[in-house]
Amino acid sequence: QAGQNDVKKGKVEQRTLLDNASNLLTNLLNQGTLTNMPVAEGAVSDLFGRPLFFALYDWFIEHGPVYKLAFGPKAFVVISDPVVARHILRENAFGYDKGVLADILEPIMGKGLIPADLDTWKVRRRAIVPGFHTAYLEAMVNVFSQCTARAVKKFETMLLEAEAKQSDDFEVDMEQEYSSLALDIIGLSVFNYDFECIAKMSPVIQAVYGTLYEAEHRSTFYIPYWKLPFASLVVPRQRKFQEDLKVINDCLDGLIKGARETRQEEDIEALQQRDYSKVKDASLLRFLVDMRGEDADDRQLRDDLMTMLIAGHETTAAVLTWATFMLAQNPEKVMKAQEEVDNVLKGRVPTWEDIRNLRYIRLIVAEALRLYPQPPLLIRRSLQPDTLPGGFKGDPNGYVIPKGVDLFISVYNLHRSPYYWDNPEKFEPERFLEEKSGDDIEGWGGFDPKRGQNSLYANEVMADFAFLPFGGGPRKCVGDQFALMESTIALVMVMQKFNFELRGSPEDVELVTGATLHTKSGLWCKLKRRPNICSNVTSVARDSLVVS
Ligand code: HEM
Repeated sequence: QAGQNDVKKGKVEQRTLLDNASNLLTNLLNQGTLTNMPVAEGAVSDLFGRPLFFALYDWFIEHGPVYKLAFGPKAFVVISDPVVARHILRENAFGYDKGVLADILEPIMGKGLIPADLDTWKVRRRAIVPGFHTAYLEAMVNVFSQCTARAVKKFETMLLEAEAKQSDDFEVDMEQEYSSLALDIIGLSVFNYDFECIAKMSPVIQAVYGTLYEAEHRSTFYIPYWKLPFASLVVPRQRKFQEDLKVINDCLDGLIKGARETRQEEDIEALQQRDYSKVKDASLLRFLVDMRGEDADDRQLRDDLMTMLIAGHETTAAVLTWATFMLAQNPEKVMKAQEEVDNVLKGRVPTWEDIRNLRYIRLIVAEALRLYPQPPLLIRRSLQPDTLPGGFKGDPNGYVIPKGVDLFISVYNLHRSPYYWDNPEKFEPERFLEEKSGDDIEGWGGFDPKRGQNSLYANEVMADFAFLPFGGGPRKCVGDQFALMESTIALVMVMQKFNFELRGSPEDVELVTGATLHTKSGLWCKLKRRPNICSNVTSVARDSLVVS
């Protein structure tokens, strides 16, 4: 059996090497065809000292919203235009696949939604999306608040210990804490597993971090040496990666087996009626096994869970980190947010119903996503020739894209584009309250024409693809509402109890990038307990939060 597996693996490795060679060749041939496009010549030094997407922004201002980036023999097309982004993501979505990204993630996520081939993706997307229905999200708000309560308790204990020692230098790495919190939440809500990460380290958690670290390494390393035959046996970090994967896979396999064996008729009935008050285990895994059990074998379920673990963890942690970073520099926004929190909650834990009234916090989450989108680039490869919509600087008729071209949609550039945003660098949550001309909506948190209902958060449809925090079109994030509510609840509960101050200056918090944007050495903050909040609550009307 082991021998057969080795032969199979060898064949797959041979095939991927051939695929890589043919991709590189297509890419080289395409260099000659993308001739009328402005060209940014990337020097390797552009990659040193600062994240790549900073350079992509400078070239966007210099060369316009569609340009070719040539790095030695490799060429990419960089898109920073909402109409072109909408074309690639929505109008001609199936003319593109995930290209380099799928190559990087396939060894980790298998046939999970992100790297899956089109046929598998269609089936799994149809199975998974209904799992994120409103009743599930409502049930998950309790998970968000319970997990955040654990984190808040931990901070309180640490503060008390510091006070007992009469020490004034109580500092917490909020990035690390948010990462633990997000992992606890994703574990419980997706597969009913309590990592208890906020309290302790375990081999599974270490393996998850190891895997994320490797995914990040691969996404920034330009030569896929891990695809070379036997790299996973010979290169120490690749061997470690295989060991980490095994730890996580064993854990997920155990959970899937457990879920299959404990299938219960009453739970199925309750799930069918979307009545989560009667469901013992509200996790997404339970839903997939009970409601869609026949659709997928254990291997596919494991790939689905792994994908959600990776896609839903660091992304949300990063939103919280950057929201905290920006708030720490804007005390007047913190006061406004806390005033809202105190008035809506009067000191209690937030519920599903409260989210609607926590409008300023929702705006803060949206603004953090605008300034620090996760991931900052969306990656695609053309599956057939295409003509991009024209009208922008460069080619009024639209550039022709041959088959096999790698494209980066720079969400970072779109979100900071001087052509679409006033003062794009400024942290201004109130910007989402401005009426968009021609739209009959109250600010951006109004009527969502796509869903045919009121949307709580600004989205890409309202912004005509100038705001793309969760992508758009058929490959849009499945966990968008989940992540937005999770971030809102976590931020509310931290701000309800604490004030935070950055250690050092904002410039000391260097930004580094992999799949998500994070800090170089943590987001170290001084936490200070807020005075008794209930006594401060005034009856400020919600309207007073609207900034003219
Ligand atoms: C896809 C962002 C949270 C699961 C995506 C995409 C983006 C994104 C931009 C589209 C990628 C592309 O088009 O190439 C985010 C952000 C999050 C977040 C910013 C947090 C703030 C989550 C959560 C889950 C999740 C919590 C699951 C529990 C997925 C999956 C896909 C995806 C499965 C692939 C969808 C498909 O290809 O059909 N996410 N995500 N994400 N996200 Fe999220």
